[in-house]
Amino acid sequence: MIAVSELAFSYHSNAPPVLTDLSVAFPAGDTTVVTGPSGCGKSTLLYVLGLMLRPTAGRLEINGADAATLPDAERSGLRAERIGFVFQDAVLDPTRTIIDNVLEGGLYAGINPSTARSRALDLLRWFGVEERPNRRPGEISGGQAQRVALCRALLKQPSILLADEPTGNLDRASADIVWQALAVARDEGAAVVVATHDLSRSVEAQHTVRL
Ligand SMILES: Nc1ncnc2c1ncn2[C@@H]1O[C@H](COP(=O)(O)OP(=O)(O)O)[C@@H](O)[C@H]1O
Ligand SMILES: [Mg+2]
Repeated sequence: MIAVSELAFSYHSNAPPVLTDLSVAFPAGDTTVVTGPSGCGKSTLLYVLGLMLRPTAGRLEINGADAATLPDAERSGLRAERIGFVFQDAVLDPTRTIIDNVLEGGLYAGINPSTARSRALDLLRWFGVEERPNRRPGEISGGQAQRVALCRALLKQPSILLADEPTGNLDRASADIVWQALAVARDEGAAVVVATHDLSRSVEAQHTVRL
């Protein structure tokens, strides 16, 4: 379970807050869709939940502890072990092969390397991007890179899966595969949080948060 209460976030002390007085629970085993117009703070909320930004005020509860005030080292540990994040623009490391990009997701989560490798290949196969895993991200399309980024986030079976417009670059068939994968993570017990413009996908979620 991950929850925020009376959360506020500002990028600068003199800038207007992007998030104010937000209280929402994101239960484990459920998908929550975060919607709202461009610029309303969907990505910012996901970065706060993903421990990349620290709240300006309020609590961020992860399994009962206030992650907002934990020291950086503990926040990094939680992030590495518990949280999978799919960035909006599928940030892959261009210097590493596709398989190594996926394996990177398990590196700090303490998964046995051979288990990680076979799971990575299974995930790539499931997402239809298993051909030539030794290529580099520059040689695949944006939609394929988005699916590889999802494989990377799923590798460690995160208990919190955060996806920022994960189907923005994808055609309908590929988007369906991504939503299926998100549902599997949810059914395995993860708290899944997805920022999306696509309101037709609210049917995939148990909860909707409008910012
Ligand atoms: N690094 C940043 N520094 C300052 N302002 C930012 C930064 N990132 C985003 N913002 C601002 O925060 C607001 C929310 O942005 P964002 O969370 O990206 O919204 P969304 O994902 O809903 O489009 C916008 O007004 C945006 O300009
Ligand atoms: Mg965004």
